[in-house]
Amino acid sequence: MSVMSDNQKKTIFSGVQPSGKLTLGNYLGAIKNFPLLQEEYNCIYCVVDMHAITVRQDPAALRRQTLEVLAQYIACGLDPEKSVLFIQSHVPAHAELGWVLNCYTMFGEASRMTQFKDKSAKHADNVNVGLFDYPVLMAADILLYQTDMVPVGVDQLQHIELARNIAQRFNGVYSDTFVMPEPYIPKTGAKIMSLADPTRKMSKSDENANGFVLLMDKPEDIMRKFKRAVTDSDSRIIVSEDKPGVSNLISIYALATGKTIEQVQEEFQGKGYGDFKPAVGEAVVELLRPIREKTEDLLKNKDYLEQVYREGAQKAGYLARKTLDKVYRKVGFVKR
Ligand code: TYM
Repeated sequence: MSVMSDNQKKTIFSGVQPSGKLTLGNYLGAIKNFPLLQEEYNCIYCVVDMHAITVRQDPAALRRQTLEVLAQYIACGLDPEKSVLFIQSHVPAHAELGWVLNCYTMFGEASRMTQFKDKSAKHADNVNVGLFDYPVLMAADILLYQTDMVPVGVDQLQHIELARNIAQRFNGVYSDTFVMPEPYIPKTGAKIMSLADPTRKMSKSDENANGFVLLMDKPEDIMRKFKRAVTDSDSRIIVSEDKPGVSNLISIYALATGKTIEQVQEEFQGKGYGDFKPAVGEAVVELLRPIREKTEDLLKNKDYLEQVYREGAQKAGYLARKTLDKVYRKVGFVKR
């Protein structure tokens, strides 16, 4: 098995929450980059169901969405023969290392996490300790695999910095234990904005369903959302700070077609939104069509998905255990 034997390669780890349907933002900011890296690196990708329960989930929906994210990993090009794909709750070492790292994380530094502040404002009736502790579990996810690189959207940068601080503190006390992870953030697409309010991040939890595009949306819904997308007062199709709506659409179009920002601006020079918005919609429909179709097929084959996540958990569990044993020994736990 490549991950166990190939120690020369660097390691990549990332995770996605099954807390709802995946959006175009999740895809362009993170998942799109996962398969690009699976040839040169040992790649480990997780469906982080334990993170998802920091906000209330319907149990049946959570189970369904967990399998859907796994299927989407494969539909987006991840090959279970090359990358380790697994479900977080199947590898107990995540919770176990999470506990130890809690004892090396300062209350003050965890309190500064902006995602915690945003989420606790949004879920004021359920500001649970898990929500506060979320980034420490995320640090455990990353550090368990001696990860070199973490592909994520820019909203996760602060969490990766925290993981680095925790690793550095632990290494400082006990000598080198964890590899220092680096974020891998794409130049274009690191923050896809809402189509309804381009000053806010595209998010599946947006109350306005016109703000996000889901990977499983039907073509007619995708077209409608792009045609309605909020743009700016003048009709030039250029990237500019005072044109957040058009700038966002240009990034999406560039990523969907593989063109550069300059090529897109040139292509639509002298044209208006009437040409541009449907073109973006069509490009996204074509980008997502194969992913949706492959996901639908995979979801019909539950036995295959089960085989993938079982094997994935076994491989991940083996790697995670090595780090956890080292950590337990260093902090002074008696060997069992
Ligand atoms: P999550 O599930 O919120 O999002 C999954 C990935 O999608 C990226 N993303 C975006 N990128 C660009 N534009 C957007 N509008 C957008 N919305 C989301 C996120 O940055 C993320 O990369 N805490 C993580 C999950 C996690 C994790 C980990 C990630 C748990 N443990 C360890 C990396 C390593 C999260 O909530 O992602």
